[in-house]
Amino acid sequence: MTSITTKQIRLAKRPKGMPEKSDFEWNKMALENPDTGEVLLKTLYVSVDPYMRGRMSDSKSYVKPYEVGKMITGGVIAEVIDSKSSDLQKGDVVIGDLGWQTYHLVPENQLRKINPEQAPISTHLGVLGMPGMTAYFGLLDIGKPKEGETVVVSGAAGAVGTVVGQIAKIAGAKVVGIAGTQEKINYLKNDLHFDEVVNYKSENFRDELKQACQDGIDVYYDNVGGEVSDSVLRLINKGARIPVCGQISLYNLEKPDLGPRIQSQLLINSALMKGFIVSDYGAHFEEAIQDLAKWLNEGRLTYRETVVEGFNNIPDAFLGLFKGENIGKYIVKVADREVN
Ligand SMILES: NC(=O)c1ccc[n+]([C@@H]2O[C@H](COP(=O)([O-])OP(=O)(O)OC[C@H]3O[C@@H](n4cnc5c(N)ncnc54)[C@H](OP(=O)(O)O)[C@@H]3O)[C@@H](O)[C@H]2O)c1
Repeated sequence: MTSITTKQIRLAKRPKGMPEKSDFEWNKMALENPDTGEVLLKTLYVSVDPYMRGRMSDSKSYVKPYEVGKMITGGVIAEVIDSKSSDLQKGDVVIGDLGWQTYHLVPENQLRKINPEQAPISTHLGVLGMPGMTAYFGLLDIGKPKEGETVVVSGAAGAVGTVVGQIAKIAGAKVVGIAGTQEKINYLKNDLHFDEVVNYKSENFRDELKQACQDGIDVYYDNVGGEVSDSVLRLINKGARIPVCGQISLYNLEKPDLGPRIQSQLLINSALMKGFIVSDYGAHFEEAIQDLAKWLNEGRLTYRETVVEGFNNIPDAFLGLFKGENIGKYIVKVADREVN
């Protein structure tokens, strides 16, 4: 095979506040042919995720920051188009933590093969992938919802939130979602059968939330933090559990956020608040995927994806996460499979 030129998207500079298109730059690079144990991949789908914003800053976190001038990396689904691997063949579909680029030359051991017969391949970036597992472990291991309890989830119409709400329904809980548009509210109520959904942008958000949670709140799955979470935490019941999954409302702040001090709320309610990173559960990923796939096949779990097409649109899709553009998992489709 003659050598291939890949397009890449790199971090041009560290964003200040809300990221902008000018924080990214485009590059082209020739890739060698694969050597023993390597494969050449063509990108099919690229995931855009809120955690990437954290990696664009240089503050200490659970993963290393992206380097300025280097390619952005994240979840990618790709097709093997040339192989010197004994495990992977031309036409196989794989997932990996790869770069924002159109082609990749990578060692076989950085990839996991996915089964295109199990479900549409893009679901491995969403409901059967990292966000689905984040919902599964945060809710079931920390939230531990019981039948008849009230579970509140913020960021409810997103990749994680939609799965949280549906697993909570499977557990027999009353589910209250918090989201930012009427279209999202309609989707959560009509398609996912959430019991109540409240718009956090409403002037009467606090009253509407209280009205929706007449028995108080037993589990609060926190995806957004900030003022939304301040309002939720006022309503927790004794013994409440609060998985802290994300704080998207704070990711673009230029100064630290000052909010109510919540320890008294936790103390008087004997409540548990616990942060987690999905990789903490790495040893149990297979169990989660099996349960999620089973619920999907049984029709007890459904999903939606917001898919934009075109490699060059990846930064815009990423920025769209902070504007609430997506319902369900936000994905960029880069190319069709060559072998079907
Ligand atoms: N702990 C972990 O291992 C882990 C793993 C994956 C994700 N996460 C976290 O989980 C959360 C959800 O991630 P996701 O992938 O499912 O993203 P997502 O919910 O699919 O997309 C982001 C959504 O957040 C909402 N949002 C944006 N800015 C907001 C703001 N200022 N205040 C309130 N809501 C805002 C928007 O919906 P609206 O229209 O409703 O505003 C947007 O659609 C994020 O905080 C992410 O960092 C954590």
